[in-house]
Amino acid sequence: MTEPDAVAAAELARLRAEAEAAEAAAKAAQAKAALAAAEAAAAAAQAAGSAEGQDAGAGPDPEAVPVPDAVPDTGGAGAAEGDAGGAGSGPLDADEVAAVIKGYTFEAETLDLGALVNTEAVPEAQIRIPLAMMNRHGLVAGATGTGKTRTLQGLAEQLAAKGVPVFAADIKGDLSGVATPGESSDKLLARTRAIGQDWKPEASATEYFALGGIGKGVPVRATVSGFGPLLLSKVLGLNETQESSLGLVFHYADENGLALVDLSDLRAVLSYLTSDEGKAELKNLGGLSSATAGVILRELITFADDGADVFFGEPEFDVNDFLRTAADGRGIISLLEVPGVADKPALFSTFLMYLLAELFEILPEVGDLDKPKLVFFFDEAHLLFKDASKDFLSAIVQTVRLIRSKGVGVFFVTQTPKDVPSDVLGQLGSRVQHALRAFTPDDAKALRATVGTYPVSGYDLERVLQELGTGEAIVTVMSEKGAPTPVAWTRMRAPQGLMSPTPDPEIERAVKASPLLARYGTAIDRESARELLAAKMNAAEEAARAEQAALEKAKADAEYAKQKAAIDKAQAAAEKKAQAEYERLLKKTSGSSRTASRKTPTSPLEEVLNSKTTQTILGGVIRGIFGTGRR
Ligand SMILES: Nc1ncnc2c1ncn2[C@@H]1O[C@H](COP(=O)(O)OP(=O)(O)OP(=O)(O)O)[C@@H](O)[C@H]1O
Ligand SMILES: [Mg+2]
Repeated sequence: MTEPDAVAAAELARLRAEAEAAEAAAKAAQAKAALAAAEAAAAAAQAAGSAEGQDAGAGPDPEAVPVPDAVPDTGGAGAAEGDAGGAGSGPLDADEVAAVIKGYTFEAETLDLGALVNTEAVPEAQIRIPLAMMNRHGLVAGATGTGKTRTLQGLAEQLAAKGVPVFAADIKGDLSGVATPGESSDKLLARTRAIGQDWKPEASATEYFALGGIGKGVPVRATVSGFGPLLLSKVLGLNETQESSLGLVFHYADENGLALVDLSDLRAVLSYLTSDEGKAELKNLGGLSSATAGVILRELITFADDGADVFFGEPEFDVNDFLRTAADGRGIISLLEVPGVADKPALFSTFLMYLLAELFEILPEVGDLDKPKLVFFFDEAHLLFKDASKDFLSAIVQTVRLIRSKGVGVFFVTQTPKDVPSDVLGQLGSRVQHALRAFTPDDAKALRATVGTYPVSGYDLERVLQELGTGEAIVTVMSEKGAPTPVAWTRMRAPQGLMSPTPDPEIERAVKASPLLARYGTAIDRESARELLAAKMNAAEEAARAEQAALEKAKADAEYAKQKAAIDKAQAAAEKKAQAEYERLLKKTSGSSRTASRKTPTSPLEEVLNSKTTQTILGGVIRGIFGTGRR
């Protein structure tokens, strides 16, 4: 006997004795329940012994279904083809159907997914997920139009009905139908009846949100300082050096009372530190080079241009508002209406990180609860991981891993499991896989890889995954004991809300009536880093202008003095020359006969001096020298 067997057997004996000894009816019932649990544990121990080498990862399954004809899955891609299908009417034989029924029978509260399909729907075989296991995360995948969003809608509606608040990103706008009762039709009722669903139209309590100013809803914004340098580095894809530099910039802003509200504030601080005015302060910061600051600045500009800037600002959103229940106890479905975000993946992933990080921060550690505190659904989840940096991915993996102990469940909804990084996939306990297509060799490879991730089953999954009808899926969830349930071809329940969008006027009305609008409706633009630095730069500019003016004045004065000196010198020279000339003329005039008799030819100079104009000028000069016209 293996050790777990021995322990389990001993426990079994103890409990049996206790059960027999108990006289009070209540006590007997209690002991019986414990006995059942112990029996299951014994079965688990046995299964663990015999299931070695099987595709595990999630531990032993206490409700492990003996799959008679199945080839054990070696865990490799494409290795899980069971030798089933030979049972005549459907892929599963009677034992396998019984095993599915047993595998999906839970004691605690559940959400209903749908009914088993074994060629026909088998309404006795209800496929469910324990409510308490919704914090073990999940994946809803499938080709376009196969029913992913309706599956999401059905889960969200049921969670809300059971008092669990839900958050969902409504990328295509086709989830808003949760707020409106669904439309009945014969076709729909025939479908729901066949799977044992008592369908009735019902609307859920819904609140609409918008990222910043984009879309219809109460605006959700975060401040840059609230977002923090670490998270921002992740979404910007900064390396370690750049990340610590960004930390310094935040520190500098904090120390200097420069509020970082929106992206333009952060840009202003970076621009300042790399400017002539801020150079000295950049130096004081130590460890931040102007080259790195320049790189961060460039990344920030791209980030803002990608549409992320609308998300940053005030008033800052309090994520507690996603955890609300209505007066009647129903959970509120918070829908983030983000049409057009498909071309702004940076914005979307930034928001996701913010939300997860905030929730992580505010929520206490609670371990496993009867029901989660909040379940997140990310439709079109491939957008989250598009172009994501390695650091960003590891941040997601870590947060997803840790947030479940805070009672938060995360479901990713996307076309192929390939869209979700394997580290994230490994964290997802429940899977609803709608039809996959295998048009290309790549598709076929992805299909085989998907098949390889399923536990052993009686299905030829590679074939079945291509045969699933709209609104059908291959399901395996996490049982109450934390092990995967048997793989089940499931016809999913229809959502009770509208399967098309709620009309715009209704949405607008709901947004206007929201109690949250008063708090978040109007953006505030208080004095923050951008304004303060602009003022500082202006003052510096003013000072620089004054200094420049003084400099120019000094230069002009010097030039004036120089010119004046030159003029004075020239004047002095001219005076001296004139004096000499005067004297020469005087001398010449006194000996004129002799000179004239010499018959010297008149020189050009003499001609000039003798000319009338020259004499007038000379007269002027001479008058200047002697002060007056005469003496
Ligand atoms: N569980 C269901 N019950 C009834 N009808 C369904 C169900 N699931 C899907 N359908 C039908 O299939 C249509 C497409 O489903 P859905 O919008 O969920 O597909 P999708 O996989 O989200 O597609 P896309 O990838 O384009 O977003 C629905 O509008 C509805 O008519
Ligand atoms: Mg969809």
